[in-house]
Amino acid sequence: MQDKVVVVVGATGGIGSALTRKLILAGSHVVLAAKNSDRLTALASQLPIANANQVLTVPTDITDPSQVERLIQKAVAELGQIDVLVNAAGAGVLKQYNKIEPTDLDLMLDLNLKGSFYTCQAASEVMKNRKSGHICNIIGILGKHSMAMASAYCASKFGVVGFSKCMAEELKRFGIKFTLFYFGGVDSPFWDNVSLKVDRSKMLTPETAADAILFALNADPQAVPMEINIQPESHLFF
Ligand SMILES: NC(=O)c1ccc[n+]([C@@H]2O[C@H](COP(=O)([O-])OP(=O)(O)OC[C@H]3O[C@@H](n4cnc5c(N)ncnc54)[C@H](OP(=O)(O)O)[C@@H]3O)[C@@H](O)[C@H]2O)c1
Repeated sequence: MQDKVVVVVGATGGIGSALTRKLILAGSHVVLAAKNSDRLTALASQLPIANANQVLTVPTDITDPSQVERLIQKAVAELGQIDVLVNAAGAGVLKQYNKIEPTDLDLMLDLNLKGSFYTCQAASEVMKNRKSGHICNIIGILGKHSMAMASAYCASKFGVVGFSKCMAEELKRFGIKFTLFYFGGVDSPFWDNVSLKVDRSKMLTPETAADAILFALNADPQAVPMEINIQPESHLFF
């Protein structure tokens, strides 16, 4: 990953920040994107960068397609290209189906589904010109399996799987690879706002998730790791 330009959307999150640290140590140039600019600045100041142009912070609300376009344009203007896009922004609403408010459903669809659609759309236009690129969508196992209390979340995540597979087919002739990640529970701030009772001590760590993403990014150029599924031993979905 030395000298690769990687846009990490959701860089301040549990998975995004663990990945960002590893990418910086690997010598990548990382574009840090998330909504809250104070958290982005704090993360950037803690990274073990070798030189100032290793990090670019771009506060971005991915529910707004014009902000996503600005993020991608800024990354190209400052760093010349985009080799990798990692979509690690998202949130969880886990409640019984009849307790889900229209605002909950809007959040799931606007952020998890439409937000990552916009970033894939915008980044792939840049990657197409170079006939090369890798898009990593951090979906979660609830993009593949159902669970009680997860109707709105699953609706958004099954949707990400659907559009990712369609885009992967449309974009393979431009040398753009997609890897879809189906992690089980990861102990991150994601769970701070979830009312469901869960045992976070038994979850995967953000570092395990980040290592899996790096495994896909470091794969042989001819190889396409299409899907990676990692579950905590205590809670296996088959
Ligand atoms: N944790 C799990 O158990 C788990 C398991 C499987 C899959 N996943 C998925 O993995 C992804 C990352 O999860 P995580 O555990 O790292 O969550 P997290 O720690 O809560 O981080 C979420 C990230 O999303 C960003 N974000 C939220 N709203 C945004 C918006 N409108 N625009 C741009 N960025 C926004 C947050 O930044 P701000 O603070 O600036 O908003 C933060 O950087 C999510 O898609 C999640 O569904 C999580």
